[in-house]
Amino acid sequence: MKVLVTGAKGMLGQAVVSAIEAREWTTIPLSRGDLDVTDVKEVRNVLVRYRPDVVVNCAAYTDVDGAETAREKAFAVNGLGPRNLALVCRDAEADLVQVSTDYVFDGNKAFPYEIFDDPRPLNVYGASKLWGEQAVATIGCRWYIVRTSWLFGPGGKNFVETILRSGKKSGVLRVVNDQNGCPTYTIDLARAIADLIETRCYGIYHATNQGSTTWFNFAQKISEKANLPVVIEPCSTTEFPRPAVRPKNSLLDSFPLRETIGYLLPAWEDALERYLAVIGKEEVS
Ligand SMILES: NC(=O)c1ccc[n+]([C@@H]2O[C@H](COP(=O)([O-])OP(=O)(O)OC[C@H]3O[C@@H](n4cnc5c(N)ncnc54)[C@H](OP(=O)(O)O)[C@@H]3O)[C@@H](O)[C@H]2O)c1
Repeated sequence: MKVLVTGAKGMLGQAVVSAIEAREWTTIPLSRGDLDVTDVKEVRNVLVRYRPDVVVNCAAYTDVDGAETAREKAFAVNGLGPRNLALVCRDAEADLVQVSTDYVFDGNKAFPYEIFDDPRPLNVYGASKLWGEQAVATIGCRWYIVRTSWLFGPGGKNFVETILRSGKKSGVLRVVNDQNGCPTYTIDLARAIADLIETRCYGIYHATNQGSTTWFNFAQKISEKANLPVVIEPCSTTEFPRPAVRPKNSLLDSFPLRETIGYLLPAWEDALERYLAVIGKEEVS
């Protein structure tokens, strides 16, 4: 199997490339410099040159607050990009995996969002990702849409690293305690994506680690596991207004992921422990 990965130098892109290499499939890892997904001609030329069986689109504009002012850029990368890939995958008869987000939902539901719930994004980033999903689903290629949430992992800016960095000094760190979601380890998600590719069961999937937490509880757990000197205190979202509105609940129900790949991703606490062990080893070496 030949798998082309876009956004291959991003946080998830790197994990997907490793997961594919581990299976000894042929990997074509392309960073933004190798392939700008917003340029349809370039997308066509690259797919004609490499003739992949599958394209995993990890390219995205992921600055949620920045998207509120960089609207055109967000829609170009998160909407036009997947549209271009879907058009060319259709013509090249390649499967497309489009990675998407919990932020396509408005957060008003009291329970985890299911794949058949209607999206209603609250911010520009979510709207741009939803447009990307819709383009992929309607163009006529064979597709998987994999929604995930609160990513952390090696090789990218993420919440765990932020807490580790800012928690090194003693003092108080205030973290919002009124947004519910599930942290997800890129390594676990990448494995699930690779397994999904093998099934050829196309469609929408929700793939996150198991469990639920708030950013405050997540920060506390990181601090406890890493023995940070900082004191972490809960606060509300209204005390820390950000340019982009976030959903209060962005938990994703995993049905039918287990029914398709045969397992669910591990609990987020387990994933966090494995990630901290990786970071610890990197610091020692
Ligand atoms: N991070 C999260 O918490 C989270 C949560 C839910 C869903 N997701 C989704 O998960 C996926 C992966 O996210 P991530 O956290 O790995 O993001 P990331 O680390 O920001 O990686 C995205 C990559 O896309 C590249 N890129 C940007 N514009 C591009 C373009 N026009 N053409 C090709 N590549 C381009 C970026 O390159 P440059 O660095 O050079 O710009 C970067 O390497 C995205 O679809 C995102 O929406 C993420």
